Amino acid sequence: MPIHIPVLVKETIEALAVQPGGRYIDCTLGSGGHAVAILDHSSPGGQLLGIDADPEAIKMARARLDAYRGSTLLINENFVNLQAICIKYDFFPVHGILFDLGLSSLQLGSNSRGFSFQHDAPLDMRLSPSQEVTAGDIINTYSEARLAHLIKTYGEESYNPEIAHHIVEERPIKTTLQLVGIIEEAVGRRRGRIHPATKTFQALRIAVNHELEHLEAALNQAINLLGFEGRLIVISYHSLEDRIVKQFMQRESKDCICPPETPTCICGHTACLRLINKKVITPSQMEVQLNPRSRSAKLRAAECITVQGEYHKTTDELHCLAEAGGKGWRRPALLQKLRRAFSVA
Ligand SMILES: C[S@@+](CC[C@H](N)C(=O)[O-])C[C@H]1O[C@@H](n2cnc3c(N)ncnc32)[C@H](O)[C@@H]1O
Repeated sequence: MPIHIPVLVKETIEALAVQPGGRYIDCTLGSGGHAVAILDHSSPGGQLLGIDADPEAIKMARARLDAYRGSTLLINENFVNLQAICIKYDFFPVHGILFDLGLSSLQLGSNSRGFSFQHDAPLDMRLSPSQEVTAGDIINTYSEARLAHLIKTYGEESYNPEIAHHIVEERPIKTTLQLVGIIEEAVGRRRGRIHPATKTFQALRIAVNHELEHLEAALNQAINLLGFEGRLIVISYHSLEDRIVKQFMQRESKDCICPPETPTCICGHTACLRLINKKVITPSQMEVQLNPRSRSAKLRAAECITVQGEYHKTTDELHCLAEAGGKGWRRPALLQKLRRAFSVA
């Protein structure tokens, strides 16, 4: 079984500004590599809520984080439910939230999950067995036009019409290697440095797991859970994810988001984030050499500049959250006060 090497760990800890006694959420726990680093740096007294949609990942992380049992809460859930999870477990406001998106090496290297075009496996690609729709369902039931659209939008694959046509011709398709053969037939075996099936596999995985919609929803929830000066860190691995993160952070760090031609502001939007790194953080050459999987990683970080509950007061749910958490920092209040006192001094 391959091991998962966490990406940009030092940069993540710095961007999160991890402090002793702080409270953190790792929304993509995986095998717990970032979680261990956060727990080490937040000791003594740190707390970590770890979330992963994949029950196998939770099992693995639970074993790895056994020594930190008293400081961790590990939940097998999808981060699209981030706010509900935090309310349920009374885990807010927090000092930092991390998303390390995508898949772990364990998932990619698995012979049975269907994420990889290098192993033969059933066309599954679900993060959790509780999800209903598999990649096989999409491949074998979507119309040619719908398949082409999916491969184009989520894979940015210019050969989408050819691939969709060959898929429909060859159905039913049961396994990953059968699909790889069909893609190779449609586009040819060699296409530069990337494997011809890369983009179609990415598109299927994104569609099966609603990756982009869930990311957008979770980012919006995350800002409501951060305390004042709490940090939001996102590591993404492809341009579709990174675009969502970049646009989200840019929008939420602006006081007005009216179109430029609007003479006076009519949106009433107020900034709730401050960008920590204007330029995206990427791994060093050394890290890429040691861990080639890190080569496409992009880290973006922002800091919450509103007091909890101040932002988006309108919806009922957030109103509840604001009331519950509006008393300000609970357990880490003293640390925050000290930190602010020092930064003023
Ligand atoms: C790149 S790995 C994280 C690795 C982790 N940082 C580590 O150091 O081991 C991404 C993890 O996020 C999980 N994941 C992806 N999308 C998710 C979602 N919507 N909800 C919960 N977990 C998700 C995957 O199951 C996977 O375990």
